[in-house]
Amino acid sequence: MTKLFTDRYRLKNGVEIPIMGFGSYMMHQEVVRDAVKEAIRSGYRMIDCASAYGNEDWVGRGIKESGVARDQLFITSKVNNPDRGYETTKKAFYRSLKDLGLDYLDLYLIHWPAYKNRFDNWEEINLETWRAMTELYKEGLIRAIGVSNFKPHHMEALMKTEVPPMVDQIEYHPGNLQEETVEWCQSNHIYVEAWSPLGKGRVLHDETLGSIAGKYGKSIAQLCIRFCLQTNVIALPKSATAGRIHENKDVFDFEISEEDMQTIKGMPGFGGSGLDSDCINF
Ligand code: A2P
Repeated sequence: MTKLFTDRYRLKNGVEIPIMGFGSYMMHQEVVRDAVKEAIRSGYRMIDCASAYGNEDWVGRGIKESGVARDQLFITSKVNNPDRGYETTKKAFYRSLKDLGLDYLDLYLIHWPAYKNRFDNWEEINLETWRAMTELYKEGLIRAIGVSNFKPHHMEALMKTEVPPMVDQIEYHPGNLQEETVEWCQSNHIYVEAWSPLGKGRVLHDETLGSIAGKYGKSIAQLCIRFCLQTNVIALPKSATAGRIHENKDVFDFEISEEDMQTIKGMPGFGGSGLDSDCINF
């Protein structure tokens, strides 16, 4: 299963999305500007950000300073939890556009679902947020729309709308594969994106992963990213370090064997953030 860094998947509406991208969580000011610039200059074409990260203005500077044409890039942002709802989502969208210095987004996601134990009208809140996003999509201001941290039951109502979700971005790495959500999404032509594909660094010292990675002459980080590629999940690794930004894209010259894939899939749970979208308190 050869894949290239320049390959793209085709979303439900025909829009092409890069098979991996670059994350921007928890990096700020000059650090995120320079990391984004370095990533784009080294060939990454998808940049993932979010209003909740509080750094969209600096991400925007990195995008601009990269010198790569806007139409070659794929930029994602997300509606922050306090902005859920129809009017507030629209306002939040325009604020993100302004902060990023862009006039459209390639992908816009609901960052976290409103859920039952926190809101009586949780489904209505998600639908109203979605209605605003659908309108922006139809106006041509967003090329594709989706969700993040949604499990199948959070998505059911959205699936019955005029424009159902095209992407679900979830935490995904060895030790935390959320199989049920991934299988459900993939059988509904919803592309899964992986946030924290390296488990925020928590899986990088695991012995089993280390011995598998060693067989291929690769680092555990590279193994985790390759694992995403081989499960058709879009990895969004982030790093503030130029060397690691390059290392993380050097994953197209090896293939994890079926046996090793099964070993990774069978690993017991570990390294997860512990965030569960049916009990978050933010
Ligand atoms: P740094 O910015 O110092 O490189 P995740 O994407 O799973 O959230 O993990 C990101 C974390 O993993 C960051 O703390 C980042 O730190 C670190 N990281 C990213 N790439 C690598 C790598 N190739 N090797 C080791 N650590 C990495």
